Amino acid sequence: MDKIVIEGGRRLNGVVEVSGSKNAALPVMAAAILTDEPVTIRRLPDLTDVRTMANILNDLGMETTWSDDGHTLTLRTTNDALCTAPYERVSEMRASICVLGPLLAKRHKATVALPGGCKIGERPVDLHLLGLRALGANIIDILHGNIEGTADRLKGAEIFLAGPNGPTVLGTANVMCAAALAEGRTIIKEAACEPEIQDLALLLNKMGAKITGIGTKQLIIDGVERLHGADHELIPDRIEAGTYMAAAAITGGSVELRNMRCSDLDAVIDHMQRMNIRITKLPGGCRVEPDGELAPLNFATAPYPGFPTDMQAQLMALLTVARGTSIITEKVYPKRFMHVAELNRLGAKIHTQGSIAIVEGVESLSGAKVIASDLRASASLVIAGLIAKGHTEVKEVHHIDRGYERIEEKLRALGARIRREHDPEETGPAR
Ligand code: EPU
Repeated sequence: MDKIVIEGGRRLNGVVEVSGSKNAALPVMAAAILTDEPVTIRRLPDLTDVRTMANILNDLGMETTWSDDGHTLTLRTTNDALCTAPYERVSEMRASICVLGPLLAKRHKATVALPGGCKIGERPVDLHLLGLRALGANIIDILHGNIEGTADRLKGAEIFLAGPNGPTVLGTANVMCAAALAEGRTIIKEAACEPEIQDLALLLNKMGAKITGIGTKQLIIDGVERLHGADHELIPDRIEAGTYMAAAAITGGSVELRNMRCSDLDAVIDHMQRMNIRITKLPGGCRVEPDGELAPLNFATAPYPGFPTDMQAQLMALLTVARGTSIITEKVYPKRFMHVAELNRLGAKIHTQGSIAIVEGVESLSGAKVIASDLRASASLVIAGLIAKGHTEVKEVHHIDRGYERIEEKLRALGARIRREHDPEETGPAR
């Protein structure tokens, strides 16, 4: 297994291209189950999670044809009798759950292993099941570790889909996909309105679905009898973009991001501006520059359009060296603080109390060996490593390869001293 080695202290300068969105890619790929015709997806990021989803779809009888550059994939159903997503796959990637709705709607049968908890919290799927049951699916949770479902043609329904921590992103994806082929009208109230859900809805409409209210909390889906093939380019990855913005800002550098949409990052841009980071919007991108000393900030994560939980760790890394004390409240995944102990190993001063983290800004960080616990935690450690004095090693980087395409290459092109090395100290399984 690999580790990332960083010699901190270099200002980032230059241009970085943002890849296609991982979290849009996964449900969009699963939606190809809903039709017998080919679905072509462009601008796919080259990531382990995308490859895992392609493998699951192969297991489910889908043919996968990749372009030479690996960024365009055509999916086509070749065997619709295969309806099982086994534990080995689902345990690699929890987002595998987004095949459940498409399978029930199109193939009337699904066996999907129940995803377990993970480093960022418990991650239940009760809302996915509630929504699909409301559409008429018969679902047994749980038999031999699997969610087992059967369905006749699903029927439209009114569904309130929020839980104690707000709407569910992949739950909305599952129910919206299933409702697209249901008989009659479905209204999803308190739907997730994340850009990735909007992108999925746009793909479904290209396939012949009738979805309105896209980007709002109320989705109206008039079911159709069949969906056809489509050609779809994914939106840019807003979290990858935000991560490079944080990386640029912590080094006091000047970086231009290209192929991104500032409108998907309103909350992140606003919060960074309050920290004295100058962000200039450009056509198809933005420039990030310092605008004085990094100021502390109090903020809470929230569903879109609020501040994304997937940027909490990266902003925390930035706040470790702000002038003053910041308070972060994690409202989407109240236990998502695995990065705190590792940031503290780099010299940060962070204390947590339940879902609140108090970050006392320090003068400087110092390099150390740290362990990545999940995708966004690893990004925060890389960001901190960019300014930590001396040598930082981020171990278990397979987490980062799930969601950041060629991160060390992109940062090296901006002037960071960063490299990937084989880690002889690591002996465990790949994930
Ligand atoms: N929740 C329930 N019941 C459910 C589903 C969710 O109570 O049935 C709770 C969760 O425990 C959490 C909240 O609802 O407290 C929101 O979870 P959500 O279902 O929205 O998360 P998700 O759809 O499983 C996606 C992203 C995550 C991102 C969250 C929140 C993908 C593949 N994953 O997960 O991304 O953190 O939405 O925005 O889209 C990441 O990219 O690093 C990542 C973890």
